Formats: sequence, structure tokens, C-alpha cells
Amino acid sequence: MSDAQPLDEAAVEAMVSEALAAIAVADTVADLRSVRLAHTGEKAPLALANREIGRLSPADRKVVGQLLGQARARVNEALAARQEAVAAAETAQALVAERIDVTLPVELSPVGAVHPITGLMDRLEDVFVAMGWEVAEGPELEAEWLNFDALNFRPDHPARLMQDTLFVSPVEKHLLMRTHTSPVQIRAMLQRELPIYVVCPGKVYRADEYDATHLPVFHQLEGLVVDKGISMAHLKGTLDHMARSVFGEGMETRLRPHYFPFTEPSAEIDLKCFVCKGASVGNPDAPCRTCRSEGWIEWGGCGVVNPRVLQACGIDTDVYSGFAFGMGIDRTVMFRNSATDLRDFVEGDVRFSRSMKGMAR
Ligand code: DAH
Repeated sequence: MSDAQPLDEAAVEAMVSEALAAIAVADTVADLRSVRLAHTGEKAPLALANREIGRLSPADRKVVGQLLGQARARVNEALAARQEAVAAAETAQALVAERIDVTLPVELSPVGAVHPITGLMDRLEDVFVAMGWEVAEGPELEAEWLNFDALNFRPDHPARLMQDTLFVSPVEKHLLMRTHTSPVQIRAMLQRELPIYVVCPGKVYRADEYDATHLPVFHQLEGLVVDKGISMAHLKGTLDHMARSVFGEGMETRLRPHYFPFTEPSAEIDLKCFVCKGASVGNPDAPCRTCRSEGWIEWGGCGVVNPRVLQACGIDTDVYSGFAFGMGIDRTVMFRNSATDLRDFVEGDVRFSRSMKGMAR
């Protein structure tokens, strides 16, 4: 078999020109990819020519080899340069096409607010948890025995009627909507190990009118401690700490003798008026609307747990004693934030929650 005819320079140049022309008009990365395949791939004219080199005479092989080597190098260089240009152009185009104006005004979706009652309950829980107390819970649909009997309200006790109880039919089941959070005290004593340090925030129900100062559903915070050597002094210290945590330094409480069946002795808790701090008392020139110039605001009830209540829960009253307290959370928010109408608490207007500074988050 004779040596093949070597390629001449003109033929190689024609292949290069054809490749360079195709490269020049490819203006996307994708186009360029097919041009690269057509002119440098296995079936490209230059590649096919290269395969023939082996069949040439050694002398021709060298010349043609060099010629083809240079030709392929020019095509590759042109490809690389075009690739860079096309990619840069595509990026620039994308940057323009996909541009986002971050300064354009956006439509903000309205954000809610934590209800001031939830806000205060969370805060009170934090105050007590920080002292090592636990948060206890009980059902709102409660057994009459836990709501009244175990708390030393006798069956004919007028206090049972004093609280306008919502009994749930059928009456034989002795179920009611709890009228206070005090039944959670009983649940805590029946279920927990001693000593007990618990707070219970929650909803309570009474057949009350719905007006500016009454809601048929409102909230209380109950506290209960049962331990060895507990006295009224521990109660007073706890209440003062709680008052300062919610209303700020300098706040204090005052206890006034009162009666509750489940505590003995019992007291009503007054909170120093956080607006005038007592300065309005006997001072007609600077009257205080919040406390009606009395210097104190009624806050809740408290006392030393009646031994009969401890005994009803099987606690040895020779060893253990306790204190308890309970107050209205809605009322507390009301005078802390100078809210004037309790109905605002249930009407669900987010602007009300937002206006309760330091309560809503
Ligand atoms: N349960 C009482 C009420 O709703 C408030 C109360 C008074 C709670 C004295 C107590 C307490 O724990 O010791 O009026």
C-alpha cells in the first residue's frame, strides 16, 4: 500500500477558517458547545485528518503533523476566547434580566400581638419559676368537690352562692365551670410530693354580667406553698417580690384581715397604688384616679392554708403548713396599664394588645 497523499496547507487552512467562522457566530454557551463538538470532536475534519497521519511517509508525517497541530491549537484558542466572551455576555444579560430592586416598597402583612393577659401570665410564671416553683394546671370543667368541698366550703355555706357558679347539667354529676383557680391547690396536694411550691394561672367562670368591670370568663393566678415551718411572713415576702417584679421597685403589698373558708387566718391583698405610690392620700391637690386617692388597690386574697384543707388532702398538719394566694390577672393588667374597660380584653382588636405596653410582645 502506497503512502497517502499528504494534506496541503490550503486544505488545512480551509478547515481552520470554517471552524473560526462558526466560532465567531456562536453567541450562546449552548451554540458554542455544538460548534466545539463539530470542529474539535472525533468526527471533526481536523480530527479525521489527524487520524490519517499514521499512513503518511515519515517526512510528510512531520510536516503535516506540525501543520495540523498548529491548526488545532488555533481552533482551541479561538474556542476558549469565544467561550469567555459568550459566558460573560450571558452573565451580564442575566444580571439585567433578573435584577431586583430591593428598594421597592413591599406590602407588609400585618403581624399579631401577644394578648396582654397571656403576656402577664407568662411573666408571672417566669417570676415564680425563677424561684424554683412549678406551674400547675387543672381543668376548667371541674368537680364541685374540688372547687368547693375540699376547700372547706360546707354544702350549705353561703360562700358557695356568693360566687355565681355555673353548674353543668345534669346536676347529679356535680360538675361546674371552676369559679376560681383554688381547686388546682387541691389537685396539687393530692398529686404532688411534698414540699409543694406551685403557681397556677388560668381561666375561671362566673355567671356575671358582661360590662366594663365584669367578664363572665376571666383569669386568676393561684399560688400554693406547703412545706415545714411555713408562716404568714413567707407569704408577705412572696407577694412583695411578685409586686415588685410586675410593677417595679418600691412596690409593696398590704394585708387586710378577711375571711376565706380555705385559709385561716385569711387576708385581702392590697397593692400600693403604682401611679401615686400613696402620695394622693390626704392630698386633695393631687388626687389619684387609679386608687381613688386611697393609696392602695385591692389585688386578691390570701392566707395560711386551713388545716382542714391540708387534712382533706391527707397531709400531716403536725409537720406541714402552707400559704396560698389568688388574684385576678385581668384586673392586674387593667390597673398596671390603665385600661378602663374589661370588654376590650375580649374583643380581639390587635391595637388594644399593642397598646398594652410591656405586656404584649
Ligand atoms: N379563690 C379566691 C377567689 O376567687 C381567691 C383566693 C383567696 C385564693 C385566698 C387563695 C386564697 O388561694 O388563699 O376569690
